[in-house]
Amino acid sequence: MIKADVGSYPGHGTVHPQQIEVAKTLLEKARKDGAIVDFFVTHAGDDLEFIMTHRRGENDKRVHQLAWDTFKEITDKVSKPLKLYGAGQDLLAEAFSGNVKGMGPGVAELEFEERRSDPVLVFMADKTEPGAWNLPLFRIFGDPFNTAGLIIDPALHDGFTFEILDVMEDQSIKIKCPDETYDLLALIGTSSRYVISKIYRNDGMPAAAASTSRLSLIAGRYVGKDDPVCIVRAQHGLPAVGEVLEPFAFPHLVAGWMRGSHLGPLMPVSMNDVQNRVTRFDGPPRVVGAGFQVSDAKLIGPADLFGDPAYDRTRQVANEITDYMRRHGPFMPHRLGPEEMEYTTLPEVLEKLKTRFKK
Ligand code: F6R
Ligand code: MG
Ligand code: MG
Repeated sequence: MIKADVGSYPGHGTVHPQQIEVAKTLLEKARKDGAIVDFFVTHAGDDLEFIMTHRRGENDKRVHQLAWDTFKEITDKVSKPLKLYGAGQDLLAEAFSGNVKGMGPGVAELEFEERRSDPVLVFMADKTEPGAWNLPLFRIFGDPFNTAGLIIDPALHDGFTFEILDVMEDQSIKIKCPDETYDLLALIGTSSRYVISKIYRNDGMPAAAASTSRLSLIAGRYVGKDDPVCIVRAQHGLPAVGEVLEPFAFPHLVAGWMRGSHLGPLMPVSMNDVQNRVTRFDGPPRVVGAGFQVSDAKLIGPADLFGDPAYDRTRQVANEITDYMRRHGPFMPHRLGPEEMEYTTLPEVLEKLKTRFKK
């Protein structure tokens, strides 16, 4: 999966249908040329999402270049002529240099040997940051109160290893669960800094991958939130589809929302146009889910994972939390703390008052 926000309407609401059309045309051409085997183009709010399969391994230059060039062309052919908001905003680098990591777009890659039947679920968020996945990914792969299989299926019973990225120091660590569960939680509870990037079953089987870029840390200033994606394999020795979806029934608080500066509930929504766009206070933060079967690297699907009455109540709770949080206005903890605000425009405002403080 490679994704970017290259412009949206109105403001940061949703993508334009012409952007999707151009993406489909270019990726179809790449499919015919053999760069990729299959693809699905979709969006989460104002983020364009390319779900691609290929046999070239992770960090492949041709695949990364394809995504970069496609985002560029969409920017030039659609976003700029239509004056969409934030045209090309996530393309931070001047030119492509081998890998889109660190250049603005978000990437999650998972290389695996296809099983007899391989369900793959893709989650895409808008108006939040990579740490938003920490809670649901922990619950899916580390919490027996969520995932019954951790207790009753011998294939899951040995647990999972989590790879954690420290986004401030750019270093990573592997933590093995259940043995080191408390160490894992000691890290990933600080979701602004320690983010889950990969998960493996303890026999080595790749189970999940998440995008980890922090745009503000790349650019040194606020350039929109990272709006992360993640890929989760399911069933037959991995958590069942329903165990993967279960944690999203709780709309936990995540950082992002208006101006990337507020805590709000992560609301699971349908892929349809009515729900998959942000409105209130540029939010609330949303997650869409697309479910596929992978067959000889072809994407069979998607199924709209949260387009289900079973998630209506979650959305209702998220709306209640939205009312409650909004009543705090500019006060913490609705507005984020000072470290998180460092990359926004708030320091400029505070700078003016500096000389007026007296000891
Ligand atoms: C959140 C986001 C928006 C903008 C907001 C102000 O990730 O991108 O909430 O921060 O709409 O945007 P500007 O400063 O461009 O008017
Ligand atoms: Mg936008
Ligand atoms: Mg976005």
